[in-house]
Amino acid sequence: MTIDVQATEPNAHGYREFTIGGFRFGRDEFFAHVTWPTGRHVTSIDAFLRALQRDVAWDFFYGTVNFDDVIGTVNHYGTVDLFAGRFNDSYRRAELDHSETYETPLIRETFRSILADWTNAKFDPFASPAETDNPFGQKDGDNLSAVTRRRVSASRMVGIPGDEAIRTDESGFPVNRMFADVPQDEPEVHPNPGFETEVAAFSLFAYLSRSDVTWNPSVVSVCKDSLFCPTTEEYILPIVHGNDRVEWFIQLSDEIIWDVRDRESGAPRSKVTMKAGDVAAMPADIRHQGYSPKRSMLLVWENGDPGLPERISRGIENVYPVDF
Ligand code: PHB
Ligand code: FE
Repeated sequence: MTIDVQATEPNAHGYREFTIGGFRFGRDEFFAHVTWPTGRHVTSIDAFLRALQRDVAWDFFYGTVNFDDVIGTVNHYGTVDLFAGRFNDSYRRAELDHSETYETPLIRETFRSILADWTNAKFDPFASPAETDNPFGQKDGDNLSAVTRRRVSASRMVGIPGDEAIRTDESGFPVNRMFADVPQDEPEVHPNPGFETEVAAFSLFAYLSRSDVTWNPSVVSVCKDSLFCPTTEEYILPIVHGNDRVEWFIQLSDEIIWDVRDRESGAPRSKVTMKAGDVAAMPADIRHQGYSPKRSMLLVWENGDPGLPERISRGIENVYPVDF
């Protein structure tokens, strides 16, 4: 399938402008400018590229990915909505919200092209702001190896023969400056004869201490629909995720403060401060954004059951994991 991404020649700042349906995306030295038939939005290019990077790498993720209070996507797993103001109470009441639905390959290719064109050589949208240069200024090269990085995904458990997706040793990544105190020794495994290919273990802390990206869960074990997605976090989760299912967080180290709001309106629901060892469930009717004051380790436990969003929207599955 060839996908026709609509782009202009470079503008005065050296960046192409992109069109998908009625939406148009342009950038200058500091900002992304988004226009649609009835409105326009401007946002920092720094926040925009960090959000776009996640939406692209996670292939539109579960449910809603809000880039900010106005722009975002909703994944329907085959098609994707691109919206302006749809999950913003003020836009809704003023009837200024706008949404368009595309086949996933078209928006995927358009977003990949924007990310590739607008990211300069010295900026890595996956990196902590303390570990990358800034994205501002005139077009200055590109960083294709960084922006085409995919999230690491195991098909079984890491370490089991046949799963080569994640190398827990020899990965080539140095221990991050914030995790210098994390022990690097691996567990000893003594399986009974005959079980050598079924029993495995690795140090998740050592693995995570060598992550070079932030806010980018990898998948280290898959058991039916149960996906263990650990990640290292520093500064702010660049998207505001609107859940279409329950997800669990297990704080493995340090601390994250979660800002939890109503998924539809954005009205504040709660602040959740999670310290090492804390476990929380995010309901299926909220949006959330995390703040990590120091690089921390988080285990996101996802339920990959593809039938969940439909059952939740029909009311036959609870939006809470437990009723007290
Ligand atoms: C989430 O939206 O649940 C999420 C996304 C990325 C992370 C952590 C949590 O790194
Ligand atoms: Fe989430």
